[in-house]
Amino acid sequence: MSAASDPLLDVRGLSLDFGSPRGRIHALRNVSLEVGAGRVVGIVGESGCGKSTLAYSIIGLLAANAEVVGGEIVFSGRNLIGLPDSEMRALRGREMSMIFQDPMTALNPVQTIGTQMLAIQYRDAVPTREKRKRAVEMLVKVGIPDPESRLKAYPHQFSGGMRQRICIAMALLVNPSLLIADEPTTALDATLEVQIVELLKDLQKDMGCSILFVSHHLGTVAELCDDVVVMYAGEVVERGSVRDIFHTPSHPYTEALLECDPGRIREKTRELPTIPGDVPNLIDVPDGCIFRSRCPKAFDRCVREAPAPRRVSGGHEASCHLLDELAEAAP
Ligand SMILES: Nc1ncnc2c1ncn2[C@@H]1O[C@H](COP(=O)(O)OP(=O)(O)OP(=O)(O)O)[C@@H](O)[C@H]1O
Ligand code: SF4
Ligand SMILES: [Mg+2]
Repeated sequence: MSAASDPLLDVRGLSLDFGSPRGRIHALRNVSLEVGAGRVVGIVGESGCGKSTLAYSIIGLLAANAEVVGGEIVFSGRNLIGLPDSEMRALRGREMSMIFQDPMTALNPVQTIGTQMLAIQYRDAVPTREKRKRAVEMLVKVGIPDPESRLKAYPHQFSGGMRQRICIAMALLVNPSLLIADEPTTALDATLEVQIVELLKDLQKDMGCSILFVSHHLGTVAELCDDVVVMYAGEVVERGSVRDIFHTPSHPYTEALLECDPGRIREKTRELPTIPGDVPNLIDVPDGCIFRSRCPKAFDRCVREAPAPRRVSGGHEASCHLLDELAEAAP
């Protein structure tokens, strides 16, 4: 039984490899994060940093070549690592659900929306008419006009934005305590993105669930989230509140990400800046700090030693040797 103050989700030192013909890909290394009840936590980082791998490992939908090699994923006081598939499936149908980048990943193209929205409630021992009523109510909540008749439509008869709204409705029909969203707005244009984020915000307030929100888009994360986890090359390099991360970033990688954010670029340009260099090879992970090959502030210690997470203030943590240097230099 978990204590009242325990987070809903507590990922502790999670390490995960993918098998590949070229060798083991160390895709997650010692990843820790917490999602409190009713909190919205954003995961940000460049492509290939392990955001989706982390999301899929929590919901138990990893590829067959994935192997958890260390750590725990504690959800509602229970470690999910090694849980039988049947129990993970039950958990996905009740306590956790997921929204994907491409709504067609979740929708069956040859079944009506109504059939799918009833099917997702298969665990509930209530009459079909009650399930239909819930489906209609949920479609109203996510802003689908004329929901009664739309239940008879197929996914291809909706626009991309509407399909994502339907996926949100389906994910919330199970009344999850944790909703995981992996880049749910990336495939949408900017106006639809704003609408979906507003919708998620309203629904979260209404239903009180926690959300783990994966995004490339820092502006969206600032808009929606309470807390932020910054990932780089399979590691958490910084975590804290939205305020901590956006106002007092303490890791050079977070600073670099913020400098590339379109919302912060003052001069109009068609070419968005990117951080120079590439994410390191995750088969042969270099010694020292994982960001050192791209870090403008790297110094000799960064080559020799990997920095451990260091508390900046309250729940704000970053893994960078500069924090030690600053602490030593302080009077
Ligand atoms: N099934 C797999 N087999 C082998 N390698 C994989 C597999 N899935 C992911 N990877 C590798 O794991 C690393 C992390 O990938 P992941 O998809 O989690 O990144 P991401 O942060 O979600 O990126 P993006 O922003 O592009 O979605 C990458 O190096 C990727 O190539
Ligand atoms: S530890 Fe060194 S290389 Fe790593 S982020 Fe800090 S300054 Fe840069
Ligand atoms: Mg991804």
